[in-house]
Amino acid sequence: MAIVVTVAQQKGGAGKTTLVAQLAAALAATRRVAALDVDPQASLVRWQAARKATLQAAAAGLTVTDCAGWRVGTEISRLSRGHDLVFIDSPPHAETEARLAVRAADLVLVPVQPSPLDLWATGPTLAMAEAERCSVRVVLNRAPARGRLLDETRAELTRSGVPTLAASLGNRSAYAAAMQRGLGVTESAPKSVAAEEVRALIAELADWLGTP
Ligand SMILES: Nc1ncnc2c1ncn2[C@@H]1O[C@H](COP(=O)(O)OP(=O)(O)OP(=O)(O)O)[C@@H](O)[C@H]1O
Ligand SMILES: [Mg+2]
Repeated sequence: MAIVVTVAQQKGGAGKTTLVAQLAAALAATRRVAALDVDPQASLVRWQAARKATLQAAAAGLTVTDCAGWRVGTEISRLSRGHDLVFIDSPPHAETEARLAVRAADLVLVPVQPSPLDLWATGPTLAMAEAERCSVRVVLNRAPARGRLLDETRAELTRSGVPTLAASLGNRSAYAAAMQRGLGVTESAPKSVAAEEVRALIAELADWLGTP
């Protein structure tokens, strides 16, 4: 059975799809990876279409499917049987799909941009993960290397008892540029700082993802 990692955050635009695509692409080099898009915006499905065009390969080393409603649970089980890792990109709300995706997860990753508005909007997502008794980790996204806002965001998360990863993703155009081509930054720019960030994130998550 696969390890299921759901990326969830009710706040729109926090970086859910970016995070799923980056992790899935980086790990697909060495593991059997599936990514499930349960967001009707279908951004991940479009990323996979771009991936096939760029890599000129039928599967591009990665399975991407989408589904909605109550079929989400069945689809997660199906993908789990044939893969080592299943990443789920969830929609920016807490309706059926998001809840089922969190329920099925071994680990819930919650991208948060270091700003008070984003932090305040994260409460319902953390509450949902807690209600489903999931392991949860916050990943700071679009984070500056240093600064007061970053320090205060980390301090607030610590005060609230929310486990936050040391690894974070910076605000880098490399992420969007890779997405446009259906790639991860570890593929499009393997020597970039962005690629280092993704590898550091994977290393910190070794308990769930294994060693690549
Ligand atoms: N670390 C980053 N650096 C630069 N741009 C980023 C980063 N993370 C995300 N973005 C950009 O921010 C926007 C939102 O990102 P993304 O679509 O991944 O968020 P989302 O949480 O999936 O959004 P939604 O809630 O609409 O599904 C996109 O334009 C994406 O390219
Ligand atoms: Mg998205």
